[in-house]
Amino acid sequence: MCGIVAYIGNKNCKNILINGLKRLEYRGYDSAGIGILIKSCNKNAESESHEAGLERNRLEIKVVKQSGKINDLEKLLEGQEVEGTVGIGHTRWATHGQPNQLNSHPHYDCSKKIAVVHNGIIENYAEIKEELIKKGHKFISETDTEVLPHLLEEILKTDPCANLLIAMQILLKKIKGSGAIVALGTDYPDELIAGRIASPLIAGISKDGNFFASDMPAILEHTHDFVVINDYETVRLTRDKVEIYNPEGILIQRDVFKATWTLESAEKAGYEDFMLKEIFEQPYGIRETMRGRITNGIFNFDELELDDDKIKNLKKIQIIACGTSYHSALTGKLVIEKWAKIPVEVDIGSEYRYRSPLVDENSLFIAITQSGETIDTLAAVKEARKKGAKVMAITNVVGSTISRESDSVIYTHAGPEIGVCATKTFTAQIIVMYLIGLYLAKRKNLLSEDALNGFINELEIMPAKVQQVLNNAGKIKKIADNTYRHTCFLFLGRIYGFPMALEGALKLKEISYIHAEGYAAGEMKHGPIALTDTKTIVVGVIPEDFVYDKMLSNLQEVKARNAKIFALVTEGDANTSKYADYTFEMPKTFEELYGILEVVPLQLYAYYIAKNLGRNVDQPRNLAKSVTVE
Ligand code: G6P
Repeated sequence: MCGIVAYIGNKNCKNILINGLKRLEYRGYDSAGIGILIKSCNKNAESESHEAGLERNRLEIKVVKQSGKINDLEKLLEGQEVEGTVGIGHTRWATHGQPNQLNSHPHYDCSKKIAVVHNGIIENYAEIKEELIKKGHKFISETDTEVLPHLLEEILKTDPCANLLIAMQILLKKIKGSGAIVALGTDYPDELIAGRIASPLIAGISKDGNFFASDMPAILEHTHDFVVINDYETVRLTRDKVEIYNPEGILIQRDVFKATWTLESAEKAGYEDFMLKEIFEQPYGIRETMRGRITNGIFNFDELELDDDKIKNLKKIQIIACGTSYHSALTGKLVIEKWAKIPVEVDIGSEYRYRSPLVDENSLFIAITQSGETIDTLAAVKEARKKGAKVMAITNVVGSTISRESDSVIYTHAGPEIGVCATKTFTAQIIVMYLIGLYLAKRKNLLSEDALNGFINELEIMPAKVQQVLNNAGKIKKIADNTYRHTCFLFLGRIYGFPMALEGALKLKEISYIHAEGYAAGEMKHGPIALTDTKTIVVGVIPEDFVYDKMLSNLQEVKARNAKIFALVTEGDANTSKYADYTFEMPKTFEELYGILEVVPLQLYAYYIAKNLGRNVDQPRNLAKSVTVE
């Protein structure tokens, strides 16, 4: 996730910005940059002409940016004169365009009199860019962000009454999407202007100057006094004032709050671990992944770029993935086959390339990988392309190897995941699976408009339903506190619940090191039932769906063998609790969509069990975030 830090005060800001950006490294990034307001320097001062003297006093924004780590940016800065007391800094986590120097922030307008850093996604940037190009603006990057300084420039040019603050207020009304934006202008040397829509941004106050930051850790060493900025508000930050304007442009008062967090707890936003933080970020990750694809009931997923002929001739979809991503592939198979009536084969990356797979140009090949770097998935992609298949990658990391080695890419926008085991990237992948299934069904006219709208509307409220589950995390914790000493866990589910049973078991073994198995509940009597005794916990995924009765019978069977049962049920299900020792209620949804609500309590369950056992949940033993060896 991008990070912003900005400063205006009486100190030199270069190191303040660099150190602030370092404090935001935990958010994940692939490039970094700073922009500082400096006096234009003329090295030959003795022989300078009058014009050159004027030039020397002119202000300019010196932008220095670099792909890679902040150390790389520091190396680039060595020996460069960038003295100034007003500046903006940014760590970029690419969403539009490769993570290279050109795409890094800050971005300039045409005249280089305005520079902007931005965290978020501008959904309508392509339209804005087109309009601005018609008006003569020239763009040099592939980013959505670059439209922002140009738009500010255009507003200032066409509206004589506008200043940078007013221009930002107008801009916020023109853009769709999310954004925390900070702008710096040579004509406005004593202020920084910010606007915010659904992306984090706070202001910090100190006796030596004021700050903007995406997150407290960036500036905690300078101040513990913060001011919250809400959506659609704009802010003028000067050396000694923080002026907040409401969406109507009226100056408002806001109390300062004192942060008591330490640096370490602030990085995790107060959560004990990154994993827990990321579990709780899932409503955001789901919303961001749907952003621009489902908006106010309108479904647009044309980025799949499948023409009518391709869809008509599509004989098979082949999905490959590893680990958690494999479980989202299994969900993809279920919903695509059900809604779009296209056969889907799912393979594990490491198996696929060695098994003489049948794939050709009439197949759609989808590779799912949160990191975009898993070697087995990449090798499978190579194999499929060799055989003539077009490969579509689904990944969370822009510019990752898979995004370069595939024919097309669909990004999940869960934000960077720091915890080794996948949580928020998984639910974002599931969303993409739903979108692909619904989109293909729509294109093939296989779902009535009502049915399609029903799913779309339900997906739009899914972040709120996931939040409802998260609000009850304490209940899961209690169940974990009561059951963590058990040594055998069997996760059972059927149909849509089966991939979630697999994922629940995987999460538990990954971070608690307890033996756990995920099974299709009907298959349980062909083996795992032999394991069940008083030491076994059976986690039953039993939503209100068309296999509810069958699932209930399976749970009764394990109950009869003295296993303890923890059941995930739909709210209002009074029946299952007759057999289950513990239950957790999920909100109601469509049966195809339950998976996303089921996996969240399963992640929490694994988390709390592992914590009870004193495990390092962010860095479990023997595991890596991206597995780049065979
Ligand atoms: C590693 C990670 C897992 C992940 C798997 C596949 O094992 O620890 O969390 O599910 O790789 O990774 P990918 O990046 O391809 O989704």
